[in-house]
Amino acid sequence: DWTTGNVIEEQIEAIRAQVGDRRAICGLSGGVDSAVAAALVQKAIGPQLTCVYVDHGLMRQGETEQVEKDFVAATGVQLKVVDAQERFLTALAGVSDPEEKRKIIGREFIRVFEQAQAEIVAEAPGDQPVEFLVQGTLYPDVVESGGGSGTANIKSHHNVGGLPEDLEFQLIEPLRKLFKDEVRMVGQELGLPDEIVQRQPFPGPGLGIRIVGEVTRERLDLLREADAIAREELTAAGLDRDIWQCPVVLLADVRSVGVQGDGRTYGHPIVLRPVSSEDAMTADWTRMPYDVLARISTRITNEVRDVNRVVLDVTSKPPGTIEWE
Ligand code: XMP
Repeated sequence: DWTTGNVIEEQIEAIRAQVGDRRAICGLSGGVDSAVAAALVQKAIGPQLTCVYVDHGLMRQGETEQVEKDFVAATGVQLKVVDAQERFLTALAGVSDPEEKRKIIGREFIRVFEQAQAEIVAEAPGDQPVEFLVQGTLYPDVVESGGGSGTANIKSHHNVGGLPEDLEFQLIEPLRKLFKDEVRMVGQELGLPDEIVQRQPFPGPGLGIRIVGEVTRERLDLLREADAIAREELTAAGLDRDIWQCPVVLLADVRSVGVQGDGRTYGHPIVLRPVSSEDAMTADWTRMPYDVLARISTRITNEVRDVNRVVLDVTSKPPGTIEWE
């Protein structure tokens, strides 16, 4: 009979048997799956695990701190944070094409991760070798990719925050038999903060694919502010459970005329994309209360510089994807 307690006990035994006295690394993305997988492995092998968090500068407000502070406090995990913000910005300079952005972010991520991994191995000479890689693969991922196991070749498109494909690691995949809601229960049982366990889906390439146009530091800061306001109001209105996710998108290549304060402005629109969905394969736009939309719109246009318009995306999927890029 299935209980989160049983799952945790069973996995801890299995991980210990698999790893012995060798070492493992785990990439944290800020998402639920990698966080729960890491917490489980930490519980099983403690200091033999090192986690890596690549700060690509494309996260939302507060998310990096959640990993650095709250996750570490809750688990006691050894964490190596790599500040790669400059590197990602430089690589993305001048690029507007969505696929190009995704490729660049994925490529840079792998390079930074490999470098971090090499450093972890080098920092502990004479220690046990690092032979294992922890992955937050869930049951639906296993089914989707044909049930294969044992290699680091994961489905590509939805796992940019995931992994190098050519590394010689054995995988530890403690969530392989679980569905998302079960993973959340396990995370809760392991004492992870709600902000991580209940987090809505967020793409690996982060805010990089929510800026229509070139990604710059100024635009990222602006979008982070708008996104934080939208999330704050959605949470305050108690809508987090009703909405699958609500991408907030900056149309950086578009300007429109507005009137704010003393005069005419020529600013950018922000798009709200609240969707309802079961699995992200299909989705409908969420019929949100008008007063919540009004609050978000008023606050964003008042508080975020260079934004003078908020628009609502009323497209289902298909034909629109959830993300704009
Ligand atoms: P789309 O835009 O394809 O998104 O309707 C479906 C779901 O996947 C998320 N998404 C991603 N997640 N890496 C991820 O980890 C990605 O590259 C990526 N692209 C889209 C999206 O947020 C939605 O939940």
